[in-house]
Amino acid sequence: MTQLGWQEISKAANVLRKGGLVAIPTETVYGLAADATNDKAVARIFDAKERPTFNPLIAHVADLEMAKTLADFCPIAVKLAASFWPGPLTLILPRRKDCSISLLANAGLATIALRSPNHPVAQALIKTVDHPLAAPSANSSGSISPTTAEHVRQGLGDKVDFILDGGPSEVGVESTIIKITDGEITVLRPGGITRQHLEKYVGHALTKTNPSTSKPPVLEAPGMLTNHYAPTVSMRLNVTNPRHDEAYLGFGNDVQHQHSLNLSPSSDLIEAASNLFAMMHELDDYCHRHHLSVISVAPIPNVGLGEAINDRLTRAAAPR
Ligand code: TXA
Ligand code: MG
Repeated sequence: MTQLGWQEISKAANVLRKGGLVAIPTETVYGLAADATNDKAVARIFDAKERPTFNPLIAHVADLEMAKTLADFCPIAVKLAASFWPGPLTLILPRRKDCSISLLANAGLATIALRSPNHPVAQALIKTVDHPLAAPSANSSGSISPTTAEHVRQGLGDKVDFILDGGPSEVGVESTIIKITDGEITVLRPGGITRQHLEKYVGHALTKTNPSTSKPPVLEAPGMLTNHYAPTVSMRLNVTNPRHDEAYLGFGNDVQHQHSLNLSPSSDLIEAASNLFAMMHELDDYCHRHHLSVISVAPIPNVGLGEAINDRLTRAAAPR
């Protein structure tokens, strides 16, 4: 543990044991955590985020052993967890009959979302509490996800009982969510583990849902609403010639522009993913200070982490 001592971990653990909310660092984004087995604590998450209760939460576990007490793991699920955990992969699996997770946390579904985060602070906290932690991203429902403790402070402020500052999130986009039914794997949300990486591992192409064309009642991942991750100003995508009256989020070759940031001057998608939400936060603030109403964004190649980046940008730009 580099930045945080055991004192803070144990203080956070006490807050969680009493049913409180703690913002936790993970390698993807910061999470708003509560004891996943405590209905009241879980209800406070939905309240703080103003999140619709039909949208289930991910339960964060220390490891496969803890996860197996909550869901039925088929052989392929065991293999995937063993290879990609701790890390940015969330598995949707059948909920065990004796599962201790609050029904509210998984919105009464027969399946449950599980992930083991790859961050020393999150790991230490889960092990100290010795309970799974329900944790959505630590932002108000629909707004930009936080990748620093400061983003959480600005976005949720006193709605959180305690914030653990573990430094900026390294990956910068949320976990990849896959559903495993009868051995078949479907990608419900592109994220920190690329589809190409998973396909190489399992040896065949994976089905993906296209949530932007499905209507809410049939959404596979109920939280994949069209409108999400949105800054307060509007967004315009695939722009190579930004107007002078808008802010610009560039990628690769720098376009000369007065109000711009670059996701990755060297066109590195890993760097771009890690900068995405922080730069959206920064340009959103910038637009307010300079009375601009649009952030335009450069085209991002739709390969590797570009798939997750484009997914978040498309939702952020969706009409509201
Ligand atoms: O990287 C991440 O996944 C971050 C960090 C904090 O771990 N968490 C995160 O949580 O992105 P959240 O709540 O913003 O997104 C969870 C997604 C939602 O779209 C939700 O609908 C979906 O997971 N989900 C949860 N349980 C599900 C289930 N049983 N079936 C289908 N989708 C589910
Ligand atoms: Mg979220």
